[in-house]
Amino acid sequence: MDRIRIRGGAPLNGLIPISGAKNAALPLMIASLLTEENLELGNVPRLADISSLLRIMSNFGVDHSIAGRRPGQSSETGQTIRLTAKNIIDTTAPYELVSTMRASFWVIAPLVARFGHAKVSMPGGCAIGTRPVDLLIMALAKLGAAIEIEGGYVVATAPKGLIGAEIDFPKVTVGGTHVALMAATLAQGTTVIRNAAREPEVVDLAECLIKMGARIEGAGTSEIVVEGVSRLGGTSHDVMPDRIETGTYAMAVAMTGGDLILDNTRPEYLQAALDVLGQAGVEVSSTHGGIRIRRNGNGIQPVDVTTDPFPGFPTDLQAQFMALMTRANGTSRIRETIFENRFMHVQELARLGAQIRLDGDSAYVDGVAGLKGAPVMATDLRASVSLVIAGLVAEGETTINRVYHLDRGFEALEAKLARCGAQIERLRG
Ligand code: UD1
Repeated sequence: MDRIRIRGGAPLNGLIPISGAKNAALPLMIASLLTEENLELGNVPRLADISSLLRIMSNFGVDHSIAGRRPGQSSETGQTIRLTAKNIIDTTAPYELVSTMRASFWVIAPLVARFGHAKVSMPGGCAIGTRPVDLLIMALAKLGAAIEIEGGYVVATAPKGLIGAEIDFPKVTVGGTHVALMAATLAQGTTVIRNAAREPEVVDLAECLIKMGARIEGAGTSEIVVEGVSRLGGTSHDVMPDRIETGTYAMAVAMTGGDLILDNTRPEYLQAALDVLGQAGVEVSSTHGGIRIRRNGNGIQPVDVTTDPFPGFPTDLQAQFMALMTRANGTSRIRETIFENRFMHVQELARLGAQIRLDGDSAYVDGVAGLKGAPVMATDLRASVSLVIAGLVAEGETTINRVYHLDRGFEALEAKLARCGAQIERLRG
């Protein structure tokens, strides 16, 4: 298994191109199941999760082709994938495939909406606490799907098609909103989704669906209204920039010091996190196509943070922010309200010398003068990258094991950081 080795101490200077968002690309790819025509997606990141979803979609009979690299494109520029769900031969998503990536469960929505039948394995356990799918199932049931749970599978049927309904989510759920939105596009009549997730990825999906012929209003607010149509067509759509990747590199330069331009991204996608960085003493400004982050000389101030659904501080940046706070001039409190148990990085950060106390949903981080390199490993994607951030300032050598977590969600991580001065390399094997 590959490992990543970092020698801490170098500041980051230069420019990092931000990739397309994994969390937008996945639902967009799944949306191709809603039409027999071609869906062409540009700016798709080269990530293990994208390949896993392509495998699942191929199993259904979806054809895909990946456009060849054009002159001037590097392995860090997103790829263009064309998906065609014309000849669907199977509407079953088996456990072996779904268990590798939770978001693949969302295929249930377009399958039942277009074909009247879907059998999708329950995603099963996950390293960041219990992540149920009850609200996703509730949304489909509201739209008239008959739901049965059989041998670990959710079987959804609607032989006469789905019917528009009012869906009130008791809790904000990104996956639930994606599922309700996709299913409602082909339901007969009007659907109102209340307490909808307002994440930019929901807006990106809605914009693509609208280009495919869907009638959707209010995406990006907490009430989305969908007028069902009888069929959707093909279109081309570019995946939005990855706000979590953007925030991760912003935290990295906040940690190491230096001057970094994050190119091809948008500050409004992560304003809450940028505001927090400002409070921590980091200079944040907008550039023509992105964001400039600088920290020169001054220390890092402690800031208390609570994770919340968008536009709040994202749970997917909590671990990275905690890494930054390990070097702050004082104590910060980090509260996680989205996922219980999303603190597995605490133990590993402690191996590097961090001082962190856990109390219920909160972590109290006492900033220390220095971290020391050590071998570490992480159990999820965002936790792994928090160890990279810590390793970038830790004295000596940090080796991060189980790099496959990073490969699921960060395109060309070590190349992007190395080009800006980090001493980071991948050890194959
Ligand atoms: C998505 C993101 C993930 C991010 C999360 C929260 C993708 C591929 N993943 O995950 O990176 O961390 O949003 O921003 O986009 N819940 C239920 N029942 C359900 C569904 C969810 O109780 O049926 C709960 C979850 O346990 C959690 C909360 O709702 O406590 C939010 O989860 P949700 O927004 O659905 O996360 P995902 O869509 O799985």
